[in-house]
Amino acid sequence: MCGIVGYVGKNQAKEIVLNGLTKLEYRGYDSAGLSLFDSKVNRFEVFKETGRVTELKKALEMTLESSVAIGHTRWATHGKVTRENAHPHVSRSGRFILVHNGVIENSDVLYQQYIPDYDLKSETDTEIIAHLIETFSKQFTVDNAIVTTLKLLEGSYALLVIDKETPDIIYAAKHKSPLLIGLSESGGTAIASDVLALAGYSDHYVPLTDHSFVVCEKDKARFFNFELENIKPDIYEVSSDILNSDKGLFDHYMLKEIEEQPSVIRQIIQTYEVNGVIEVDDVIVSDMKKSDRIYIIAAGTSMHAGMLGKRYLERLAGIPAEVHIASEFAYHLPLLSSKPYFILITQSGETADLRASLKAIEHLKRPVLTITNVKTSTLAREATYFLDVKAGPEIAVASTKAYVAQASVLLILAYALSNKSYPVKEVLSKLANNMEVFLANQSMDSIAKDFLDKRHAFFIGRGINYDLALEAALKLKEISYIQTEGFAAGELKHGTIALIEEGTPVFALISDAHMNHQTRSNLKEVDARGAKTCVITLRSLSKETDDVILEDVDPLVAPLLLVLPTQLLSYYAALQRGFDIDKPRNLAKSVTVE
Ligand code: F6R
Repeated sequence: MCGIVGYVGKNQAKEIVLNGLTKLEYRGYDSAGLSLFDSKVNRFEVFKETGRVTELKKALEMTLESSVAIGHTRWATHGKVTRENAHPHVSRSGRFILVHNGVIENSDVLYQQYIPDYDLKSETDTEIIAHLIETFSKQFTVDNAIVTTLKLLEGSYALLVIDKETPDIIYAAKHKSPLLIGLSESGGTAIASDVLALAGYSDHYVPLTDHSFVVCEKDKARFFNFELENIKPDIYEVSSDILNSDKGLFDHYMLKEIEEQPSVIRQIIQTYEVNGVIEVDDVIVSDMKKSDRIYIIAAGTSMHAGMLGKRYLERLAGIPAEVHIASEFAYHLPLLSSKPYFILITQSGETADLRASLKAIEHLKRPVLTITNVKTSTLAREATYFLDVKAGPEIAVASTKAYVAQASVLLILAYALSNKSYPVKEVLSKLANNMEVFLANQSMDSIAKDFLDKRHAFFIGRGINYDLALEAALKLKEISYIQTEGFAAGELKHGTIALIEEGTPVFALISDAHMNHQTRSNLKEVDARGAKTCVITLRSLSKETDDVILEDVDPLVAPLLLVLPTQLLSYYAALQRGFDIDKPRNLAKSVTVE
């Protein structure tokens, strides 16, 4: 959570950091702050505001010449949303200024042990870091004071530190929370928690590994471990799709990302097609074939993609698979089979609950595959293998194209493990085409207006559409704040039907011929109790009175087509209510706290 950006170089640091924070705002947006070296008055200034980065921009409207700055956009974990709790935080004498992403679990213990007489200015777990660095700087060099502090910290952090005595250096450190160093031939050193903030300023970047400490200067960055030994960084190019990650003609990233889904599917086909054949790396496939059960571990929308993945692996490859909520799995390991194989599914590749799950299975020394949209992410690096879902940057907090991409890659993986009689390429191509047909003619705006006028709603489905009902419900509740439940259609009558009253919206998702009749019967049951019902289905299963009809696709990928109207329903419901679609309340794009 949170976003951090820093810059040291000959360009305007204030602009670079503010632009970067704006791009990272989707990661946290309850307050923002920045510290910069004002060369006119020869000192560092600190600015903080509650609310969005625009508030901070207003406070910084005066012209300030600066070549060094660090900034932060916050998603509160420790302490309320106040100006005092916003970053940067400053050490007691004012010498050290820092911004931090992550959570310091032992901040209270460190406080009692090292500085119990200090009057803290904030309720955060971050402020203590500044005081500790200052305390150790009385005995050690700055580098040593910082790494001595880092070694005491338990938890996660991406940190940028400024020492007023060396104003042309930014110190950076990383453990568990992502941090990248952007390098440029011409334009200084930029540092950010997400590569998006480096686009336009850096040609190359280094995603830091855990326990890294970096000294950033205008023309170089030096990389160390916590023993202050040099380490060799892995350098990546800033790719052109990152440069193109603005909204374009769309009003919201979410709508842009929904519309991109057909091209994402085509991109996946192209990525996994080698000489006309769909393939997955042999090593991954052969390791999976040697296992007796697959454990899929994920959170939220990625877990819903994992539920589809389980069906694909079982139906196409005949390998039993289980899906687990990462935050549960990490601390309550199920009874595992003798040769388990683990798949982590994560859009961001940084989710703390997944990292905790990875830690919980480390001792088993079994293969782990991460399926992610960020190939340089921590979880891609820490797993034995990774597969790229190729969705391109997803900026809206509500995940749409990443879900479809994750499920498509899981289908390809299941195919690679199967006897290969399933026409996977044709199935995915037809899916992409029929997505386009739907997107060109949809009228979900008016369906949202007609149906979503209550404080609550239901999505129901059976089998593979039960998995989809969970995802559709999550999407609607997270951006429109309508309380929504996804339900197995046949299970409603065992209790939950008590909630149905006059006008309750119930959306039925139907794409399986052999469950068409049963799902429609369940719909009749709620209809008889006053529900306002809406059917979303495929052409060959449709009735004249159905509300949303999509062109036929293979049953295994039907949820990836039917998800489109549900995503748009959520989008329009939020739009009609005037909510912030790309940045829904209380949420953040990358969840790096447990
Ligand atoms: C909902 C959403 C979340 C994420 C979840 C896991 O739209 O995006 O539910 O799916 O926080 O995040 P990742 O996929 O980054 O591990």
